[in-house]
Amino acid sequence: MAATFLTVGSLTSSSINNVGEQLPGCLSLKRVPTHLRFSNGYRTKSASNPNLKAVEIPRQWYNLVADLPVKPPPPLHPKTYEPIKPEDLSHLFPDELIKQEASTERYINIPDEVVDIYGLWRPTPLIRAKRLEKLLDTPARIYYKYEGVSPAGSHKPNSAVPQVWYNAQEGVKNVVTETGAGQWGCSLAFACSIFGIGCEVWQVRASYDQKPYRRMMMETWGAKVHPSPSDVTDAGRKFLQVDPSSPGSLGIAISEAVEVAALNADTKYCLGSVLNHVLLHQTVIGEECLKQLEALGESPDLIIGCTGGGSNFAGLSFPFLREKLAGNINPVIRAVEPAACPSLTKGVYAYDYGDTAGMTPLMKMHTLGHNFIPDPIHAGGLRYHGMAPLISHVYNLGLLEAVSLPQTECFQGAIKFARSEGLIPAPEPTHAIAATIREALRCRETGESKVILTAMCGHGHFDLPAYEKYLQGGITDLSFANEKMKESLTTIPQVA
Ligand SMILES: Cc1ncc(COP(=O)(O)O)c(C=O)c1O
Repeated sequence: MAATFLTVGSLTSSSINNVGEQLPGCLSLKRVPTHLRFSNGYRTKSASNPNLKAVEIPRQWYNLVADLPVKPPPPLHPKTYEPIKPEDLSHLFPDELIKQEASTERYINIPDEVVDIYGLWRPTPLIRAKRLEKLLDTPARIYYKYEGVSPAGSHKPNSAVPQVWYNAQEGVKNVVTETGAGQWGCSLAFACSIFGIGCEVWQVRASYDQKPYRRMMMETWGAKVHPSPSDVTDAGRKFLQVDPSSPGSLGIAISEAVEVAALNADTKYCLGSVLNHVLLHQTVIGEECLKQLEALGESPDLIIGCTGGGSNFAGLSFPFLREKLAGNINPVIRAVEPAACPSLTKGVYAYDYGDTAGMTPLMKMHTLGHNFIPDPIHAGGLRYHGMAPLISHVYNLGLLEAVSLPQTECFQGAIKFARSEGLIPAPEPTHAIAATIREALRCRETGESKVILTAMCGHGHFDLPAYEKYLQGGITDLSFANEKMKESLTTIPQVA
């Protein structure tokens, strides 16, 4: 498999024939010549292998807002409840990212230096899961777009690199952030090491304890890491007072990082999901994938992705949604969330804070309430009380559907996937894989040969203790804490 990935990366250079046409958001499609001859005389055929159909790295991010029939509701100031102004955000984000957050432009150019760094791992492979299909005995054709080839092991560097680049351009010296699974913290630490700026990360306590190697990775890239809640911020100390053994949550860790950014003039805050500009950066995934499927003569009937804050799911699906809105294709688009933290399927659509302490702007989103602390499931990156406002809006417009799955079904699916396809998924994409398996088995019953496209957004090499626990029968399904959600929803702001 590794050799195939290397081949895809190296074949994007000018050494291959350009026989493709121009599509928005991407450079022209590059097809690999049917027979390749290397200096060692080795010959290979590209005709039947999707990984050998190379595409170039997109030069533009795609902004779905431009194409929506109804524009999303604006974020509000947390004190006045008035629509937020750019200057209200300038203590947290650099100007360019604030512009991207509010942009209605269809395409935004990716800076050359960012494209150059993307080239360390992009384009990422699109793989047909033939062995999984065989195992399931399904007539469905399953494809997965694999983002685990990045330095951090997931899709998260697609946004970390531009976020840090824009901060560095505007002279910012340090950035701070939260991390749930550790993937985002690693991605930001990696990007900061490239651009030479400081990085401090609040890692949710449950994941800090479950994943020491993620902390070590961040430290190797030069970041300082705190378990959250921590005793280094006011917000953290307050949460510790209430519950000294708190497992933490993304909402709490965000409060801590935002507090530090607000108090230090040379420090800005970066978020790994949820916001429009993060979803925007992730659209490189879907743009590449459109071209890769086109090269194979395939079009998806169903697109499936896991949703924490929604960035990998949006990144894969939004370019396809553009084509759907234009009437070119008609895939069903399905978000998959954990049964323990089901913001889309059980939450309310309302204005709420993005963090637990109530320091961020108010966003209209599907939320379980900012005080909801999800059970410490192993998919730490899916333990967020809200959903990206843009995904929430699109869901509200009826343009996508959502399901929630229990974690044992997800691990069961991941084991099937690992034992047929070889890759060990991070706990987050096990949700997308399990939903894909559900659908493939449905196809076995109905005889439909659907094309299912799924986001395999990260590997699970640092999540092996979770797999060990599952294999030893130590993982159970916790029933959703409905009462806890109801209580938490009583604390969301009452916006008219
Ligand atoms: C591998 C992986 N997948 C998915 C997610 C969920 O985030 P998002 O919904 O923004 O893709 C995370 C978050 O940390 C992650 O690490």
